[in-house]
Amino acid sequence: MPRELITVQAGQCGNQVGSQFWEHLCKDHGIARDGTLEDYATEGLANDRKDVFFYQADDDHYCPRTILVDTEPRVIQNIMSGPYKNLYNPENVYSSKTGGGAGNNWAQGYAEGERRCDEILDMIEREADGSDSLEGFFLLHSIAGGTGSGLGSFLLERLSDAYPKKLIQTYSVFPNSEETSDVVVQPYNSVLAMKRLVDNADSVVVLDNAALARIASDRLHIQDPSYSQTNQLVSTVMGASTQTLRYPGYMNNDLVGMIASLIPTPRAHFLMTSYTPFTSDTIDRGKGTTKTSVLDVMRRLLQPKNRMVSTQGASKSSCYISILDIIQGDSIDPRDVHKSLLRIRERHLANFIPWGPASIQVALTKRSPYMPASHRVNGLMLANHTGIGAIFKRTVDQYDKLRKRNAFLEAYRKESVIGNDLMEFDEARETVAELMAEYKAAEGPDYISGKSIDDAD
Ligand code: GTP
Repeated sequence: MPRELITVQAGQCGNQVGSQFWEHLCKDHGIARDGTLEDYATEGLANDRKDVFFYQADDDHYCPRTILVDTEPRVIQNIMSGPYKNLYNPENVYSSKTGGGAGNNWAQGYAEGERRCDEILDMIEREADGSDSLEGFFLLHSIAGGTGSGLGSFLLERLSDAYPKKLIQTYSVFPNSEETSDVVVQPYNSVLAMKRLVDNADSVVVLDNAALARIASDRLHIQDPSYSQTNQLVSTVMGASTQTLRYPGYMNNDLVGMIASLIPTPRAHFLMTSYTPFTSDTIDRGKGTTKTSVLDVMRRLLQPKNRMVSTQGASKSSCYISILDIIQGDSIDPRDVHKSLLRIRERHLANFIPWGPASIQVALTKRSPYMPASHRVNGLMLANHTGIGAIFKRTVDQYDKLRKRNAFLEAYRKESVIGNDLMEFDEARETVAELMAEYKAAEGPDYISGKSIDDAD
């Protein structure tokens, strides 16, 4: 029985990331641009599970279980007129034909969600009804603009309400806080969206545009990467993090199991990722002469420079709550994994919280037979690390600066979700502060008993 996942891609970032994710999945499963199987994939030797992310239409072509949502038509039009235009179900598209977007305003995006809720939820419901054993939802979005952030927040609230037993995982792109952004209100939008990520999502994979730009520059020697280049990093990570679901082996074949092992307490559900080594068709300058053994890969995954979240500013006491390494390769000897784990432990390469099992979990997974492998071993790390508090702190600090001056609030007040009293802002700020305190408290030995949360507060 497949454990299907329905994806919702919202706003410019969500749809651009989404379209590269689907392209990646198609290549990985031998699906052509129009959704038909490539000749070389028809014999079904891959033993893959295409049905987690795709269903077969009446003419047998594979169709992504995804809903494309935007408040302006441009990005979705590009997707629906591009090389993969016949892949998607046109009934799964909500895009305002005339709309000019949500003006980088969370409240406008949220209000658009309220107005068009029936239409969008209808599409989601149709996909859910078409699944045999729905496991949950993926939301792809950025938290800094208006649509992915605001409309995405609205959908998170509605989805968690309508499907309380289903899992909600988001891939959330945080803005590049090192760049002086032309959109000054990004911190408002980010904090307002973060409240929903805390309250309504089960797991959030944090992707930080600052870290993505750094990795593109340091690892792949691309200065000023385009969105298409950073999104390639993202789609590689998304592909790897869903590999065990799509190419099942003995372990980690469902998302619930993976998340349960990474998230011991419900609110601390923000995950960071590392991936190594990076290569791809278009980012081919990264192809080097790297030596890839299981130990090398596991060791590199632990290096902060490979993290897709910049933890600069995190305190020295920050540490891992949990780690899952997904190692891909052909004929990997489990004894190598065991030896690598011992070596990492002997050398104290990973600092863990004092109250947990302090061990790295490893899932060995098959590779797609249809994708050429440039390295013997690849690895993805999904980690729950208290240093993630650093990115929340940067966001809140920027928020506080704006809010102190009560800058740019008029456009938000116009929407009823905010109203005049700005309670929504204060509550969201409070939720993010509590989350930061939670991660800080997790570093203490008494976290599970709840005492250190009170202290950190
Ligand atoms: P509106 O434009 O207000 O309707 O909202 P939106 O959700 O469409 O906005 P958008 O997705 O453009 O969000 C802005 C943030 O997303 C900024 O921080 C951008 O740097 C980032 N962003 C936009 N597109 C992409 C993308 O394709 N990839 C990545 N990694 N980041 C993106």
